[in-house]
Amino acid sequence: MNPTIIIQPDQQSFAKYMAEIIVTAASADIEQNGVFSLVLSGGGTPQPLYELLATSDYAKRIDWERVHLFWGDDRLVPPTEDGSNYKQVKEALIDHLPIPAENVWRMKTELEMSAAVDDYLASLATFATEHQACKQWPSFDLVLLGMGSDGHTASLFPGSALDSQRDGVWGVSAEYEDRPAQRITLTESIFNDAKRIFVLVTGEKKAAMIATVINETQQPQKLPIQRIRPKSEHLTFVLDEAVAKLL
Ligand code: 6PG
Repeated sequence: MNPTIIIQPDQQSFAKYMAEIIVTAASADIEQNGVFSLVLSGGGTPQPLYELLATSDYAKRIDWERVHLFWGDDRLVPPTEDGSNYKQVKEALIDHLPIPAENVWRMKTELEMSAAVDDYLASLATFATEHQACKQWPSFDLVLLGMGSDGHTASLFPGSALDSQRDGVWGVSAEYEDRPAQRITLTESIFNDAKRIFVLVTGEKKAAMIATVINETQQPQKLPIQRIRPKSEHLTFVLDEAVAKLL
């Protein structure tokens, strides 16, 4: 499968491009299905997008009553603590939106790891049963992912096993930069059931990795971002010029 590659000149146009994608997808899916399920990523790359979506120019264009937010991964820290992906999105986006609390499906990262995994699997099954008549987890309408300079995505890190058992949600421990090591993550089994996946990557330091990921042979165990191959074949890499310079 060949992903679509979108290259934006700078961070502002990058955020505007993705905000328009989300507004358009949400409007279409809410009109067709009455609901829009959006999976959010942590990290610095999506922050300008979250902040832009929170501005009235964009927020007023989405019927937030029908939007449900999920996370692709989170770190096992309290939801009020720096390092929490939920806290990041709450402050940048959720606190500025008329979204019902019950539409925000955060990972219960205050629990110990296995309990947090079981709780999120139960949440996914509840939403799927309510809205899509499928039992185990939903086919998400739009997934946002990032990529680390080591080729990880969400909290699927190099060398980790493939989710051949279709577990769906894992508890993992992985060192990356100065970020909390204990994490909860969706696996490729869930991501690849999604309708649309957008991988957001910027910055020169990831240029070599993104060129390897896109141009070279598949090595999904070593480069987890290559595990992301949605059945819908709707996979888009949204890049800035700095990270795309070797493509
Ligand atoms: C996380 C993210 C992680 C992130 C990449 C890229 O919890 O940190 O899910 O997968 O997307 O590490 O992070 P940056 O956007 O900060 O480069």
